[in-house]
Amino acid sequence: MKNVWISDVQTGQFDGQSVELKGWIKRSRGSSKIHFIVLRDSTGTIQCVGKREDLGDESFQNFKAALIESSVILHGHVNVDERAEGGHEISIQSISIIGAVDAERPFPITESAMVSSDGGETEFLLDNRHLYLRTSRMTKMLQVRSSVFGAIHSYFRQRKFTEYQAPNFVAGAVEGGSTLFEVPYFGKKAYLTQSWQLYAEAAMPALERLYTIAPSFRAEKSRTRRHLTEFWHAEMEVAWANNAEIMQYGEELVRHISTTLLEERSEELKSFDRDLGLIERYAENQYPRMRYDEAVETLQSMGIEIEWGQDLDYSKEKVLTQDFDVPHFLTHYPKVAKPFYHRVDPDDGNYVLCHDLLAPEGYGEIIGGGERTWTEEEILHRIDEEGVPREPNQFYIDIRSYGGVPHGGFGLGVDRVCSWLTGAEHIREVIPFPRDSRRVTP
Ligand code: 4AD
Ligand code: MG
Repeated sequence: MKNVWISDVQTGQFDGQSVELKGWIKRSRGSSKIHFIVLRDSTGTIQCVGKREDLGDESFQNFKAALIESSVILHGHVNVDERAEGGHEISIQSISIIGAVDAERPFPITESAMVSSDGGETEFLLDNRHLYLRTSRMTKMLQVRSSVFGAIHSYFRQRKFTEYQAPNFVAGAVEGGSTLFEVPYFGKKAYLTQSWQLYAEAAMPALERLYTIAPSFRAEKSRTRRHLTEFWHAEMEVAWANNAEIMQYGEELVRHISTTLLEERSEELKSFDRDLGLIERYAENQYPRMRYDEAVETLQSMGIEIEWGQDLDYSKEKVLTQDFDVPHFLTHYPKVAKPFYHRVDPDDGNYVLCHDLLAPEGYGEIIGGGERTWTEEEILHRIDEEGVPREPNQFYIDIRSYGGVPHGGFGLGVDRVCSWLTGAEHIREVIPFPRDSRRVTP
């Protein structure tokens, strides 16, 4: 077991004491008599210094020869030292190399490779993703990501939502056939699910308030800064709620995630040069609602070509959200722009009661949701109108024959939220092993 963490040493808990540290060598330099390393663990880094006269010739030689990313266990004295990063330095009394790195195959990710890589985007770093994970930027990203997951769970659990799991192998599309992943399934065809939603609706009369965080799959051929083929999807479904009420949940959730990051991950965000004032703004303010038609007019007034009835793609959302100070909900999209399950607006049959939440700074959509078509008669009409096959959706139709009620929900792209809140250039930066149309390795 390990008992002492570098962050605890750096906050002064062990000043003047001897400690055992376990970690990896991040940097190494020295002379024939004295050698310095920067040791890292999951919590931080600390400078450690070893002298030949203290360690003895053989041990000093091994210490000096240990390459970057060798794992070590060392015993040393904690000294307060203003000049050292973090304010402390360890004078090493003994050190063992646990997992040595072969001099023939040194750790491939050097600091110069990182610097020339535009924030981790080169193919080289993607090929070495299994090693890239331990760089300080990626370690911090994974820690921020964990806080985002934790915030989503705590938000829903505090509100008595039940966590509920749907199958990942499914028989039909939720979000349109063009992004369906087909998989052979014992002589038949199955698909990887695009969304938990339809199976969540089946449990809605049982649980009334339910949520999940699970992978969803989309065969997105184009590679953009906000699309993955496998992404993490936080979805919720709630009985007896209308579009406005569901948006309220979405707004509160995103504000809660922002608040949680400020509480738990300010240091990490600062290390990404993220302006915490922006995150505070997203945590503290209300998010305006805007109808789709108004967004189209705004875009047209900016000289952007857009026809009424088109869904907004990234190029349009980017322009629209560039000047947003906080996320905005876009509501009432044209029926023709959205999938069959959205409830048609009883006041105007050209629209559906739905919403997308668009993040500012040119980021765009992070949530899609709305009210569901909840009567059997209406769902049959919508399925036939959209040319969706009835057969794989029979269960979905059936639910509505036994006590259908108004209900709805949304899906939030967790990786997108991580990417937006950390200010990452690309969604790949926030997920350990990103999947896109060209890459399933490592
Ligand atoms: O807008 P979408 O397609 O909505 C649904 O899937 C609904 N069935 C959700 C629901 O009501 N339960 O996807 C929801 C969100 C998007 O707003 C986006 O944030 C994210 O999922 N998303 C992706 N994230 C990364 N890569 C992709 N290829 C994504 N596609 C959607
Ligand atoms: Mg959407």
